[in-house]
Amino acid sequence: MSKVIITDHPLIQHKLTLMRDKNTGSKDFRELLTEISMLMGYEITRNLQLEDVEIETPVVKTNSKVIAGKKLGIVPILRAGLGMVDGLVSLTPAAKVGHVGLYRDPETLQPVEYYCKLPQDIEEREMIVVDPMLATGGSAVAAIDVLKKRGATSIKLVNLVAAPEGIAEVQKCHPDVDIYVAAVDEKLNDHGYIVPGLGDAGDRLYGTK
Ligand code: PRP
Ligand code: URA
Repeated sequence: MSKVIITDHPLIQHKLTLMRDKNTGSKDFRELLTEISMLMGYEITRNLQLEDVEIETPVVKTNSKVIAGKKLGIVPILRAGLGMVDGLVSLTPAAKVGHVGLYRDPETLQPVEYYCKLPQDIEEREMIVVDPMLATGGSAVAAIDVLKKRGATSIKLVNLVAAPEGIAEVQKCHPDVDIYVAAVDEKLNDHGYIVPGLGDAGDRLYGTK
């Protein structure tokens, strides 16, 4: 069974409250999402492997640690996932970024794929799928399906706000994928929106309706 890691640092909780507020406009919403993604990145990258290298400080030769092991790949689920890329990439500048385009059919709530461009060597990378919202879980499950079909073997999912229903769906379909979230909310409403949630993340990021 995959783990759910709740990254509830006080700074993340404070910034998430600002994002939830319906009076927060797109500019602040985007900036807050970038900031929270960077703060979540600290936890997401906690288990990266290290190796010793020899360096010379101005004083002496010494062994010191650098990141080793698998390289990273970040895959935002379009559109709203794009809002989490800059914060993560600023911590991991060597990461490659792929894109999976999915939208949720408003009637059936089923994900519809419209775009996919991934790094060629994803089987050698630790892949991080990002999307602010995990509602029914359909989009996340579909994106992870795509990555696995292309050969990915090591995948993490990162969401800002998750519904219990979405977490259960990902755990059922992809028990090997750990889920990092800033908050687990109460439930989904009849339209598949997370309650209390923050509304439609893509629309709030980009000022569309
Ligand atoms: C939102 C969100 C997720 C999806 C979550 O995207 O960004 O991708 O819904 O819902 P689910 O867990 O029930 O699949 P949306 O379909 O609104 O597309 P957008 O990002 O282009 O706005
Ligand atoms: N997608 C969103 O953007 N918000 C929700 O609450 C559910 C799905």
